Amino acid sequence: MILRDMTEADLDAVLAIERVVHAHPWTLGNFSDALRSGYLCKVFETEAGELIGYALMMLAVDEAELLDIAIASSQQRKGMGKQLLHEMLALARRKEMRRMVLEVRASNAPALALYRSAGFSDIGLRRDYYPAHSGREDAILMGRGL
Ligand SMILES: CC(C)(COP(=O)(O)OP(=O)(O)OC[C@H]1O[C@@H](n2cnc3c(N)ncnc32)[C@H](O)[C@@H]1OP(=O)(O)O)[C@@H](O)C(=O)NCCC(=O)NCCS
Repeated sequence: MILRDMTEADLDAVLAIERVVHAHPWTLGNFSDALRSGYLCKVFETEAGELIGYALMMLAVDEAELLDIAIASSQQRKGMGKQLLHEMLALARRKEMRRMVLEVRASNAPALALYRSAGFSDIGLRRDYYPAHSGREDAILMGRGL
């Protein structure tokens, strides 16, 4: 697998994944803004050039915030998400960040399990933070040292 910078040219492939894997997907505008804002936006692709995942991270002083991470549904449960998360942890460390934080929907069992298995623990709860199909949903804040 190859990790490289995301560019505008990747956004069709990124959105094709995003719209399938997330009930409340980011829009083209969200991704374009993230690229323009200088966030660390990476894609994960096979040697043959097939884009199978991506992750976006924002750096602030000594803290990295993971904004999104996704693996194409056909490629899930093969260890790719864990590998990509570890690449982002290593990247944050190289940028001299001391901590990584993230927010996740309370119902997102796969992501919660991934983060826990990668050493993240719960650091807070934002009640009714996300819009959900019926009403609102809590956000769990997680973090780990680097
Ligand atoms: C979360 C996500 C990135 C995991 O990617 P993945 O490649 O399937 O994950 P991996 O195969 O590397 O699995 C790593 C660990 O995550 C957990 N996990 C992953 N999918 C899971 C599932 N469906 N149910 C329970 N645990 C799961 C397991 O602990 C797994 O370890 P194990 O296989 O040794 O049991 C992927 O499910 C995804 O893209 N989801 C949609 C986007 C999303 O919700 N992103 C997080 C936003 S906060």
